[in-house]
Amino acid sequence: MTDIASFVAKLPKAELHLHIEGTLEPELAFAFAERNDVPLPYRSVDELRAAYRFADLQAFLDVYYACAGVLIESRDFYDLTWAYLERAHADNVRHAEVFFDPQTHTGRGIDFATVVEGICAALDDGRREFGLSSRLILCLLRHLDESEAFDTLAAAMPYRDRIVGVGLDSGERGNPPRKFERVFERAREAGFVPVAHAGEEGPAEYVREALDSLEAVRIDHGNNALEDPDLVAELVRRRIPLTVCPLSNLKLCVVDDMASHPLKRMLELGLVVTVNSDDPAYFGGYVNDNYIAVAKALGLGEADIVKLARNSIDASLLDEAERTRLLGELAAAATSLERSEGSKP
Ligand code: ADE
Ligand code: ZN
Repeated sequence: MTDIASFVAKLPKAELHLHIEGTLEPELAFAFAERNDVPLPYRSVDELRAAYRFADLQAFLDVYYACAGVLIESRDFYDLTWAYLERAHADNVRHAEVFFDPQTHTGRGIDFATVVEGICAALDDGRREFGLSSRLILCLLRHLDESEAFDTLAAAMPYRDRIVGVGLDSGERGNPPRKFERVFERAREAGFVPVAHAGEEGPAEYVREALDSLEAVRIDHGNNALEDPDLVAELVRRRIPLTVCPLSNLKLCVVDDMASHPLKRMLELGLVVTVNSDDPAYFGGYVNDNYIAVAKALGLGEADIVKLARNSIDASLLDEAERTRLLGELAAAATSLERSEGSKP
């Protein structure tokens, strides 16, 4: 039998839940700290890596925001994004939907333009060099208030042609989606596609609110939706995709161990589940590592893995022609893998 790692590696796929600030590897963080002459609250790469033990989401966010402080110039955002695209390309990612957190940077005096222009230049090069398509999604920090979210949305308007979606991230507990109902209404009116983190640490009710108050078309994580059978039925009926992040869930103690991850149950319930890496520099693996970890722990078969890759393309914001082309490439890869299995003695 083809081993799981090479099977996963051969499938073209899309990644739909990836925070660009979460791809900052410790070595790169120290390189940026040095070239920009800004301090990091860690003395070495090893000391920083040793801090990657998180009791919950907030413990992770504290380190993540501290490290983001080394990103100053457009070229930092370019280099960060380029490093991710190289990893994604190596994992056979053909399409990436990339979150960025502008408030993490504008709050430190970095211009919105510096951030977006650096990221977009790298995304354009990724398309040219690797044929890797992408979409950029602005995430609003839910621990901040509504007026700051409105200001951020206003700053995004000149980049309406580059930023396709608006999402919601950061500390979930105590920051329900309804806090941003009016901001999302304006974002939708301006043509941004609404998505939201919900049900990672927060209750099923927050997933319900993301659908009803924000009109989110995709839920990031969504694990706790399983607490509410009526909500699950609605997610299935409306084919609302969940962008699930197994290694993230393990590192942030959303699950006790990978064997108790709900992904297989989600598939069995008929949910449109996708596999993603969230903040791969912090959680111990990029997207293929996530497929492999969950496949091994839950005993997923090859058909399940192909389904997850197909869901990732189906749930993407690609236009119809690009989606059809990528689905065709996936079908061809899956058939050729089946054939090579069949031809073995
Ligand atoms: N920001 C970066 N990663 C996040 C996550 N997993 N949940 C909420 N906000 C985040
Ligand atoms: Zn996330």
